[in-house]
Amino acid sequence: MHVETLAWVGGRPGFVRLIEQTLLPREEREVEIRTVDEMVDAIYRLAVRGAPAIGVAAAYGLLLGLQDQEFEDGADFLGRARESAARLGSARPTAVNLFWALDRMVARAERDQAAGKTSDELLAGLFEEAKNIHSEDAHQCRRMGEVGADLLRDGMSLLTHCNAGALATGGMGTALAPMYVAHERGLSLKVFADETRPLLQGARLTTWELQRAGIDVTLICDNAAATAMQQGKIDAVFVGSDRIARNGDVCNKIGTYGVAVLARQHGIPFYVVAPLSTFDPDIRSGKDIPIEERSPEEVTLGFGTRTAPEGVSVWNPAFDVTPADMVAGIVTEVGLIERPNLARVEEALRKGGRLPEAPTGT
Ligand code: MRU
Repeated sequence: MHVETLAWVGGRPGFVRLIEQTLLPREEREVEIRTVDEMVDAIYRLAVRGAPAIGVAAAYGLLLGLQDQEFEDGADFLGRARESAARLGSARPTAVNLFWALDRMVARAERDQAAGKTSDELLAGLFEEAKNIHSEDAHQCRRMGEVGADLLRDGMSLLTHCNAGALATGGMGTALAPMYVAHERGLSLKVFADETRPLLQGARLTTWELQRAGIDVTLICDNAAATAMQQGKIDAVFVGSDRIARNGDVCNKIGTYGVAVLARQHGIPFYVVAPLSTFDPDIRSGKDIPIEERSPEEVTLGFGTRTAPEGVSVWNPAFDVTPADMVAGIVTEVGLIERPNLARVEEALRKGGRLPEAPTGT
């Protein structure tokens, strides 16, 4: 059932085929991306979106910039790889998977160049690395699905915000993965999807995905979430993340923090589902996460209809930060981080090889 959000097509040279998400649900169309600039544009426009999917797209994007070129030597190759990585990294600032994937690609090229490989071998190495980033992401989604599904019981009713499903990853999703796995296990779930203003990822994408999977989904306006909780309609909240600070603060789509505040008020557990590639060990707390601000037109002229007077001031942050102490748990591919804090996040990062092992006591 799962959707193939993006794929590398052909060998070397090849191109990226991705679902044009700006058109969903009214049109299911795929587009071909053949240059770095086209990939930067696709990421900025949200044709491809969601933190893990952006990481995979950027890794493939780097190949697009290198595959047809002639290089003087390995140093020349490396210089141009770094240049393409910088361009791709400028597409969006918040989802750390973008930078994580680009850093991993450039580090691979640096290692191979230091080992004296030819330009052709450097390119072959990057192909392998990009494919690995993609397939590891799919595998991690499945693992998070299994870990998260253990938190679910038959008949539960869940709330999700934005889209953290297959369309946001190279696999079955993050926040939606536990729902898919629970569905496979025969559990019956009810999912409420927040519409997610202003770009309606919940209305356009999450409902589309869950409907296709045969999962009972009900769309609500963002401002109906409080009432849904007050009326006892929600047993747990599951959301994805774009960047998680070392102390467990969670950055996700604007409106997520509001949902967390509501969940706390109503005693409802608030879970985050994210791979370790979404953690940023260099950022100690959520206040240091760069928050993307997008164009006013997304708010006043969304989808071509003017809904506010011309010239009105608009503030349009795309993400917000939920403090760690409001999070019941973060589901990762290495297990559940219960009530996340600095020590527990560091322990998970060590387990997943994203931090070196702590020195043992004397
Ligand atoms: O602006 P978007 O649509 O890229 O925002 C996406 C989200 O906020 C998702 O919840 C997040 O990336 C996690 S996706 C697995």
